[in-house]
Amino acid sequence: MNVQWYPGHMTKAKRQMQEDIKLIDIIIELVDARVPLSSRNPDIDELGRNKARLILLNKADLADESQNEAWKSYFQKKGFFVVQVDSRKGSGMKIIQNTIQEACREKIERDQKRGIKNRPIRAMVVGIPNVGKSTFINTFAGKACAKTGNKPGVTKGKQWIRLNKGVELLDTPGILWPKFQDQEVGLRLAMIGSIKDEILNLEELSLKLIDYLKERYAGALKSRYGAEEEETAVTVLEQIARARGCLKKGEELDFTKASRILFDDFRGGKLGRVSLEWAALEGAQDEDH
Ligand code: G4P
Repeated sequence: MNVQWYPGHMTKAKRQMQEDIKLIDIIIELVDARVPLSSRNPDIDELGRNKARLILLNKADLADESQNEAWKSYFQKKGFFVVQVDSRKGSGMKIIQNTIQEACREKIERDQKRGIKNRPIRAMVVGIPNVGKSTFINTFAGKACAKTGNKPGVTKGKQWIRLNKGVELLDTPGILWPKFQDQEVGLRLAMIGSIKDEILNLEELSLKLIDYLKERYAGALKSRYGAEEEETAVTVLEQIARARGCLKKGEELDFTKASRILFDDFRGGKLGRVSLEWAALEGAQDEDH
């Protein structure tokens, strides 16, 4: 299966982001906690040179808790500040406020030395589509926050959300596109629902997901679908189709429908908390030595 997805307005968006980044002190980068590598575009490291960096492991509620911890230390070792977040429920928001201050300590001290008092930290949210940027901004900023336009003539059209005395957030997030360095990246993004299902071969993708779950989360397949360990991915999918009455005309099993059920379950957390990328495989543990 060849997943390709590259919108034409990417260059324009990147240029816009370059301009926006000049205005801010800290980049708040959202990644999907289930696929923290595949869901980030490493170009941001180049774009965000000299800026404070905060990575949010968003949708942490859907990912494996032990992997969330492992990824947190993986990114921390690379020099990022990291917080686990569930933007829908709002968990992690208080910690973020404090972490922003900590990440920008140098800037705050620099300001103080120059006699600049109370200049708010300016932040910008970035991330790939569907990672949860709008949800995060809404939750983090809350409804009570005032939007502040810039003084006319200073910066045209920028809207800032004042979070508190100390922090202002650019109200439009920066959209990054994922990088398909290898097919696995595309497949993982497809599995979490970040690529439109219409352009995918759902059945093939579901067999890959089942194989992965068999390897790492066999218990989830057993408890949700009664799948036994020795079963193949195809028989598990057949089982789902049968159990859920996915039939085409003439009693033939409808695997596309069964695949859709599997992905709805997986993406909705009904198979439990599942991570598709493992920090240990990226040398996270090696760095301890
Ligand atoms: P974007 O701006 O980056 O494109 O993403 P957006 O906020 O639109 O979020 C994409 C989907 O991810 C939404 O679900 C949103 O509710 C969900 N989401 C965002 N953050 C979290 C999180 O921390 N945990 C979980 N479990 N889900 C999260 P949707 O189904 O597309 O919309 P809706 O039905 O929730 O409105």
